[in-house]
Amino acid sequence: MKGLILSGGKGTRLYPLTYTNAKQLIPVANKPVLVRVIESIRDAGVDEIGIVIGQTGPQIQELIGDGSKQGVKITYIPQLSPDGLAHAVKISRDFLGDDRFVMFLGDNVIQGGIGQLISDFAKSDWNSQIVLKEVENPTAYGVAKLRPDGSIEQLIEKPKNPPSNLALVGIYMFDPHIWEAVNSIKPSKRGELEITDAIQWLVDAGHRVFPHVHKGWWIDTGKPTDMLEANSLVLEELIPAVAAGVTVENSEIDRRVTVEKGAKIINSVVRGPTIIGENTVIENSYIGPFTSIYHDVRIQNCEIERSIVLENSSLADIGTRMQDSLVGRHATVRRTDSKPKSLKMNIGDHSNLWVV
Ligand code: DAU
Repeated sequence: MKGLILSGGKGTRLYPLTYTNAKQLIPVANKPVLVRVIESIRDAGVDEIGIVIGQTGPQIQELIGDGSKQGVKITYIPQLSPDGLAHAVKISRDFLGDDRFVMFLGDNVIQGGIGQLISDFAKSDWNSQIVLKEVENPTAYGVAKLRPDGSIEQLIEKPKNPPSNLALVGIYMFDPHIWEAVNSIKPSKRGELEITDAIQWLVDAGHRVFPHVHKGWWIDTGKPTDMLEANSLVLEELIPAVAAGVTVENSEIDRRVTVEKGAKIINSVVRGPTIIGENTVIENSYIGPFTSIYHDVRIQNCEIERSIVLENSSLADIGTRMQDSLVGRHATVRRTDSKPKSLKMNIGDHSNLWVV
């Protein structure tokens, strides 16, 4: 069995963070979502993995390399434009050959791994397995309508009037029948070759597609609110660890806090679940819960809760508690006493700022 991860696409809903960074590389609990996806596939026993990349390919290749750090062998498959998930499958034919494979969307985070799903599929005579999850907003996803016996009747991509609340999770398993399917479908109204249509084709052609309904949590990290939600859920499950040699002076650190190497926490309170990244300095501050501060960040005289701060940023003397926030890389947030007393901003396109 081989693995295929889709990491092309644009990530417009995560602007401005994704102007300069691939959305799959944004860290959740200080680990890029794409690394979490690679680890889930590896932990299920699959170590030959293809990654479909688009414009942000060079950043992905720089971070993941040949996969040896994660103990897998990676092949990169360039997609010239984001023409749909089924198009991404189509261009991966040489890599996948006639093997059965698991496809995982590079921006999905799921509870509990996929080991059981893969072994169920390996033991079965199903031609495909899909994963479904009950959601409150099915219009944002591919949606499945099941028959009373649990088999699939219909699959529709982002329907205006969803026939059920069962969304397609971004994990799919296929055998070689998928090739005829992706070569038979036509682009959708939004101009993409939809994997949902390819699976509907399999169902209509009488192939066996098994729908597994997932009981744990699942997040498609498409929007900033999803990133914060995924961050909280992953932090809750993280086994806390304080690296050797970190500096903790005159501070109160909750037992559910992870502190990575080289970090310094001085005159501060850190409540878990929270993670403090490598070489980050926290001084005279209150951090957490549900907060991930990435590497090489400097925080002084601030209160920060349920937020993600990316690398090399600096926050000082903000004055109000910062909450539910995403701060990108190399960003600066600070209070100033210079006159005239006013808000001063230098924020990028598509940024959001809520002032109190
Ligand atoms: O997350 C689950 C949903 O993912 C499913 O419910 C939908 O049925 C499925 O179409 C997909 O919808 P999204 O709108 O979330 O897909 P998105 O454009 O965000 O792409 C998902 C991943 O695939 C992302 O990592 C980018 C990558 N991608 C996307 C396209 C369109 C590619 O690699 N190539 C592409 O052409």
